[in-house]
Amino acid sequence: MHGFSYKNGSLFCEDVDLSTLAAEHGTPLYVYSAGTILDHYTRLDAALGEIDHEVAYAVKANSNLSVLRRLAQHGAGFDIVSGGELFRVIKAGGDPAHCTFAGVGKTRDEIIYALEQGIYSFNVESAEELAYLNEVAGELGRIAPAAVRVNPNVDAKTHKYISTGKSENKFGVDFGAIAGLYERASKEFKNVKLRGLQMHIGSQLTSIAPFIEAVEKVIPLVTALKEKHGIEFWSIGGGIGIIYKEALESGDPAWWENQPEETRPLTIERYGKELVPRLRNLGLKILLEPGRYIVGNAGVLITKCLYEKKGAAKTFKIVDAGMNDLIRPALYEGHHEIVPLTAPATTEQVTVDVVGPICESGDFFCQDRPLPDFQPGDHIALMSAGAYGFAMASNYNSRPLPAEILVEGATATVIRKRQTLDDLIAGEI
Ligand code: LLP
Repeated sequence: MHGFSYKNGSLFCEDVDLSTLAAEHGTPLYVYSAGTILDHYTRLDAALGEIDHEVAYAVKANSNLSVLRRLAQHGAGFDIVSGGELFRVIKAGGDPAHCTFAGVGKTRDEIIYALEQGIYSFNVESAEELAYLNEVAGELGRIAPAAVRVNPNVDAKTHKYISTGKSENKFGVDFGAIAGLYERASKEFKNVKLRGLQMHIGSQLTSIAPFIEAVEKVIPLVTALKEKHGIEFWSIGGGIGIIYKEALESGDPAWWENQPEETRPLTIERYGKELVPRLRNLGLKILLEPGRYIVGNAGVLITKCLYEKKGAAKTFKIVDAGMNDLIRPALYEGHHEIVPLTAPATTEQVTVDVVGPICESGDFFCQDRPLPDFQPGDHIALMSAGAYGFAMASNYNSRPLPAEILVEGATATVIRKRQTLDDLIAGEI
């Protein structure tokens, strides 16, 4: 569920008319619903309510300071993947003691910074990294809190670029090598305190089965680690998928009720119902690292149609956002629902490609998709763009980054200014 719907023929975010925002702030423009973000956070928190747990929001999905601040104020922890993300969390008022630090390639500077800030855990991805963490912590005269990421070799059944829990992926330590590594660490790595175990099998999982498979596979391991090494937490990662194909429709609770049982998408309530009984008696604090679930359906990218180009084979609607603003379709064949800001007067559709201005054939938002026949000057929204949208945007083709707006009820706040041409060259000589 989310805060985007038509009211009297205009697409609104909460109580704000998106056409007004587009007119005032220009396009391309990211708009987020704070109510949706906090609703998702609160529902996930509640779904795990029966057990000792913490929701560590995956900052990489959307790292705007105002988004982080709202989540920190509601008690979220944070899963970070760089010194830069830790810096953002601290600036937003987040507590480093509730931060976990993931990633296969942490640098010396990042390790030192995170140690000095007192993070909760380094989620370590190899024996080599654990040895290095031990070394750097020793130099600083500190004990580094850590967890090893186990690769459970479970197929997350998602796009190959965002599947992480198979042996052929670069992530984590092989399931069979974990017990030996904890044993070795307890003897050799005196500057490391292994306080947990971590896993994350992939992103955009829309069925519960891979989560159950991974949890059931790792329970005996985590139980043994608790007995032998006294670990206190288990992070089961993020990865909960969202609705992309009928994003607008899914804002309505009735849409969910009307989904047939067999094909009903994963809900957070189901996630909690299936996992909580399996996790309840482990005596461990359970961490979650959701990114997309919290912010994905809470954001849209608004863009304006510039031209309609009728080619020999296709009709192209050329818009003012490009793959530099939202790269998911180009990179993962990601589907984003496209809806006009003004509800179409007829149900007639035309089959088109919606493309950006970038000099690449991969610069498209959809191909051969039936859509309402919007015209140059009209605005459209690319739905479900709150996660991995702005966060993955770039200045490619020397295009300034778009502005970001946060809506709270009837209030819209610019939470990041549109870049200027001067911003584009700042730092260059
Ligand atoms: N924890 C770890 C260790 C991760 O690597 C990730 C995501 C998450 C948590 C959060 O996963 P989520 O709950 O958001 O699925 N750019 C891609 C997604 C990349 C995900 C990377 N890791 C996309 O746009 O689909």
